[in-house]
Amino acid sequence: MDRLKSPARLMIVSDLDYTMVDHHDSENLSLLRFNALWESNYRHDSLLVFSTGRSPTLYKQLRKEKPMLTPDITITSVGTEITYGNSLVPDDGWVEILNQKWNRNLVIEESSKFPELTLQSETEQRPHKISFYVEKAKAQAVTKALKECFEKLGLDVKIIYSGGMDLDILPQGAGKGQALAYLLKKLKSEGKLPNNTLVCGDSGNDAELFSIPEVYGVMVSNAQEELLQWHAENAKNNPKIIHATERCASGIIQAIGHFSLGPNTSPRDVTDFLDCKLENVNYGHEVVKFYLFFERWRRAEVENSELYLASLKAACDPSASFVHPSGVEQSLCDTINAMRSCYGDKQGKQLRVWVDRVVPVQISSHTWLVKFNKWELCGEDRRCCMTTAILSSKDATSIADGFTWMHVHQTWFDESEPKDHSTWLF
Ligand code: GLC
Ligand code: MG
Repeated sequence: MDRLKSPARLMIVSDLDYTMVDHHDSENLSLLRFNALWESNYRHDSLLVFSTGRSPTLYKQLRKEKPMLTPDITITSVGTEITYGNSLVPDDGWVEILNQKWNRNLVIEESSKFPELTLQSETEQRPHKISFYVEKAKAQAVTKALKECFEKLGLDVKIIYSGGMDLDILPQGAGKGQALAYLLKKLKSEGKLPNNTLVCGDSGNDAELFSIPEVYGVMVSNAQEELLQWHAENAKNNPKIIHATERCASGIIQAIGHFSLGPNTSPRDVTDFLDCKLENVNYGHEVVKFYLFFERWRRAEVENSELYLASLKAACDPSASFVHPSGVEQSLCDTINAMRSCYGDKQGKQLRVWVDRVVPVQISSHTWLVKFNKWELCGEDRRCCMTTAILSSKDATSIADGFTWMHVHQTWFDESEPKDHSTWLF
């Protein structure tokens, strides 16, 4: 959160399953569209928050399965755990608040008396969240009976039914909505209240997000009945909330456009970068554009034309070098020439390339050091390179005329290193 020195231009707070991530989209196209839009236009001055019902364990699992970006803030276990940055540093202040008036053992003891409830896996039982499965037909009656039981004992808890099968019991002050309210209050106290906030969800545990004052909201087209019903009963006349006509992450992009929250053309929707007009010239866009071209070139989705390579070389300084993750260094222009031999080598092989955490640091009046993680997914094979690029603006006084690549250096991330380096060009 400290990454930004001033208020975020946009803060997106999104649920994951069936909102940011579409489990019915085996190619992850809508997620990849969102990723490209975020890194090219928003990462440098906006905040990405994931708010999921999953525990940290299942959240980490999802990140391995899907091409997800790294959020600035991760809220897991239905708003009961708030963490910051890539290393998930916990917010202890939030833990303290939730500890007040919470008697976990008593909640477990009482709920075990309900045979309709089946405990979820051990990973999903958290310090401030106890979770069960319950049949849809029985959900309303059980929720009512549970409420009465807890009230009698003076236990102040919240019961949330989601996805037509999950029942979560949390402290009354917890939940995705309360966690967001806490976060907004904290940002405000630091003078960094985002200019706009967009909340995104599809199911019952997301409903609270839409009741936070001032925020824009999108219920994705595939939203569950329970959320649509909550909306019909509680927020029908709020013009800041829409039910998108597009699924999952594409619904989020649709909402950005609908509410005019900023650029909403994903670079993945631009078929030819040679005639692409920029809504917002920046380093992120330069990097996203390059790697997207690389993906399309190898999938043979762009024409095998020298014009493209010439345009890439025109954006490189003649003395620019490229340090391959194997350690071999060569001229950047030669590396681009070498791309001729890999045209179409991934045709029909589902190669996807995306970048994450593109962050520029200014190192001189018109030079920036841009760091990012570059991912490649091809079938089961998924690898990441930590990349550092030095880019300078063509015009010494403004970046509006675009950039020149001065240097690129890649290093394998974690255990990403392949046995055979020869198949890895960039
Ligand atoms: C996620 C969690 C589960 C929870 C559900 C609804 O699926 O893993 O524990 O019940 O979200 O909040
Ligand atoms: Mg969901």
